[in-house]
Amino acid sequence: MPAPKSLMAPAEKWWRHAVIYQIYPRSFADGNGDGIGDIPGIINRLPHIAGLGIDAIWVSPFYTSPQKDAGYDVADFCDIDPIFGTLADAEKLIDTAHELGLRIIVDIVPNHSSSQHEWFQQALAAPPGSPERARYMFREGRGENAELPPNNWESVFGGSAWTRVTEKDGSAGQWYLHLFDSSQPDFNWENLEVWEFFRGVLRFWLDRGVDGFRVDVAHGLVKLEGLPDAVATDQPAVGNVGPQWNQPGVHEIYRDWRKVLDEYGDDRVMCAEAWVFPLSDMARYVRSDEMDQAFNFAYMATKWDANALRRVIVESLEAFDSVGAPSTWVLSNHDVVRHASRYGIDATTKAQPTGFGPTSAHKPDEVWGLAVARAATTVMLALPGSAYLYQGEELGLPEVIGIPDNKRQDPTFFRTSGERYGRDGCRVPIPWVKDATAFGFNDSGKTWLPQPSSFGPLSRDQQEGTEGSTLELYKKLLALRSSLRLGTGAVEWLPGYGDSIVAFTNCGIAVIANAGDAEVALPDGELLISSAPLSGHSLPPNTTAWVKLAD
Ligand code: GLC
Ligand code: CA
Repeated sequence: MPAPKSLMAPAEKWWRHAVIYQIYPRSFADGNGDGIGDIPGIINRLPHIAGLGIDAIWVSPFYTSPQKDAGYDVADFCDIDPIFGTLADAEKLIDTAHELGLRIIVDIVPNHSSSQHEWFQQALAAPPGSPERARYMFREGRGENAELPPNNWESVFGGSAWTRVTEKDGSAGQWYLHLFDSSQPDFNWENLEVWEFFRGVLRFWLDRGVDGFRVDVAHGLVKLEGLPDAVATDQPAVGNVGPQWNQPGVHEIYRDWRKVLDEYGDDRVMCAEAWVFPLSDMARYVRSDEMDQAFNFAYMATKWDANALRRVIVESLEAFDSVGAPSTWVLSNHDVVRHASRYGIDATTKAQPTGFGPTSAHKPDEVWGLAVARAATTVMLALPGSAYLYQGEELGLPEVIGIPDNKRQDPTFFRTSGERYGRDGCRVPIPWVKDATAFGFNDSGKTWLPQPSSFGPLSRDQQEGTEGSTLELYKKLLALRSSLRLGTGAVEWLPGYGDSIVAFTNCGIAVIANAGDAEVALPDGELLISSAPLSGHSLPPNTTAWVKLAD
């Protein structure tokens, strides 16, 4: 039994309490004006982000890719797509981040490649049963003429998870598995060649100085033996469940990767994207000989409800602590409705599973949503462990709802014939300067998704130095979190507050969040910050405050 991480790793390990800011390259900053963000754009704007007071950046995929899934369809894992720049640009980005005092984590996508990857092209050209096909999940179809897919699995983006190929002689041939888009064939992790290949990818980026990896779809790589049908259920699934997800064999892969990272010292990290519940199951990904962090999606999915929040905080701390790992906290990323809009949906309304659009039945209340989002972030940044931020949330950006159908890009929208709007609304290029072309995203005015005029007043230049702005709130929260060392502390519940209040202490401050509908008195002490103005020493609804308790 390896020693638990809490003994092995001193609390000072940077990632245990780091605030990590996600950059989504397509939408961050566009250096050459083609409408798509790129690495030179990131390098140019990175000092603004360093100035927020974060510890690290995570950069979503910038690899060679036909961009059928915004770069999560990788055609070459060891090169940069020309739309984002060159390998030299990526190396410069790594150096620039380090010069600014930031660590840098890159995305790795091991569940699938792009169908344009040379291995998949070779597999298509090779016959059934060949070593080329054995790198992916090819199977014979069912039915008299193999005209039915090998099983009933569905793609996460909608439709069947199988696509049939045409063999060289023109006949309808085998089927290949894709848990996502048909342009994203799943690798066969039963094949040791795939293992060796990914060790090489890890080393390629570690050699270039990256501090770690965010591991895409970490719970999908290994499928249940025999690929049995998924059992249909009327219950809405919480997380990904079924024979295609969270199989015990995935852990062997991360134990292997751990050894590769450890060749580079003891501070390179892996963070799992694993949509696995309950949290005790998610915690298995961060056992001492596997990864370091896992995105806390249970926390992200929790509504602004004091009981639910207290429960998920306790459950998170217990689950991760039981394996010696820190908890992470996250409210937004490039796959979910931005939290400033998510909280604007009535708690009793069932939101669309992914995304909003012009015809969605329920639209978020943006004023309410932003107030709750600021209060929720003020809770999150007081919690011990590591927190992830998604570009634009520090500006309080809402989900963009009005994207016309003919401008949408997410494969989810197309694979469900528009039934699910998908994720474009959280991926719109972010605003830097109100009175500039494309709000300063570039100087050509082209943007791969249209920006709404409501982004103008939310632009960074409007919020910088502006009392009460969401940007100034984030900066102050981050500065306090760091000086008070909240990331290394511990939660103790404060008694005496009602059911609708979340109240705890950490490192000598009281954190009080009001999820009810009446004002509540704050404890005695010095008010350090609040997510909205207070009335005297009382906390209004949908507001969170930090109070330094008198000794
Ligand atoms: C992850 C990514 C998502 C992508 C999917 C397939 O969930 O976060 O953006 O579409 O994997 O790679
Ligand atoms: Ca560009």
